[in-house]
Amino acid sequence: MADIVSEETALERAIALVHAGQPVALPTETVYGLAADATNGAAVARIFEAKGRPRFNPLIVHVADRAMAERIGRFDALSRKLADAFWPGPLTLVVPLAPDAQIHPLVTAGLASVGLRMPRGFAAKLIAAAGRPLAAPSANSSGRISATTAAAVAADLGDRIALVVDGGPTPVGLESTIVKVEPDGVRLLRPGGIAAEEIEAVLGVPLLRGDAGGIEAPGMMRSHYAPRAGLRLDADRVAPGEVLLAFGPERIAGADKAVLVLNLSPSGDLREAAANLFSHLQALDRSGASVIAAEPVPATGLGEAINDRLRRAAAPR
Ligand code: TXA
Ligand code: MG
Repeated sequence: MADIVSEETALERAIALVHAGQPVALPTETVYGLAADATNGAAVARIFEAKGRPRFNPLIVHVADRAMAERIGRFDALSRKLADAFWPGPLTLVVPLAPDAQIHPLVTAGLASVGLRMPRGFAAKLIAAAGRPLAAPSANSSGRISATTAAAVAADLGDRIALVVDGGPTPVGLESTIVKVEPDGVRLLRPGGIAAEEIEAVLGVPLLRGDAGGIEAPGMMRSHYAPRAGLRLDADRVAPGEVLLAFGPERIAGADKAVLVLNLSPSGDLREAAANLFSHLQALDRSGASVIAAEPVPATGLGEAINDRLRRAAAPR
């Protein structure tokens, strides 16, 4: 079983594992990541192995600073502007891969582009101290809900990795927002921890939405983030035997008979709801109920990403 070690004391051991080509589970501000040296193919292969993840799915490369980012990707003016505004933080920029980036092709799934993100906290410290960019998908088995606590990582992947660095519950709770600068605008590839409206405020124009065609973000499979239970979205009543994922101060009909009710945010705050989303889904799933009813969540701000994850969790599989 993996050792769970507090982030205050885990740095030396994490550096040694990164240098040895072994994956390490660590906290970022969004969700826990399963991180390994992005320049080492065997290390990256161990991430896929531990997650049971399809190989065609490219990984985000995490960097410690802008200099590291610009050695790996080619930045245009708009990508720089977005990095200035949101790094470090929950924004991933997809940019063309630099000619001598030294990122292993397994990370980019052979694409000519790379997803780059500068995280906060322990992850940034480890990248700087190890002197390597880290490829890191969310630290969960492929297709499962992302982990927002060290305990959730250990329960899922603990028998396949050596170390889980514990930084407490992740503050944002949703994966990063992914955007890509295209010839006619900036495309939103995945809604996430930074609301689209915040990015649009920096750009001064709306983001492009929808699929540009092709497999732009092949990780965006419909049945991603799946709990074992079925998930019934926009419920207006709770059926017998169901558990309830609630939002806001008012309950839908039948909520008093629900086997278990967990509220994403009793006051209706979307930031709080995002931070609670995956842990509440996991806890409702663990109750053993076969269906989770979910109250509607507004689609504005972080609600866009929350609804995106809920739709994926509810998709047939
Ligand atoms: O917050 C996050 O982004 C977390 C933490 C650990 O940093 N990471 C994360 O990684 O969510 P992952 O692997 O679960 O999701 C990465 C997404 C996938 O949908 C993948 O397809 C997309 O990023 N992606 C990576 N590189 C890409 C590229 N070159 N072009 C388009 N999409 C890319
Ligand atoms: Mg993931």
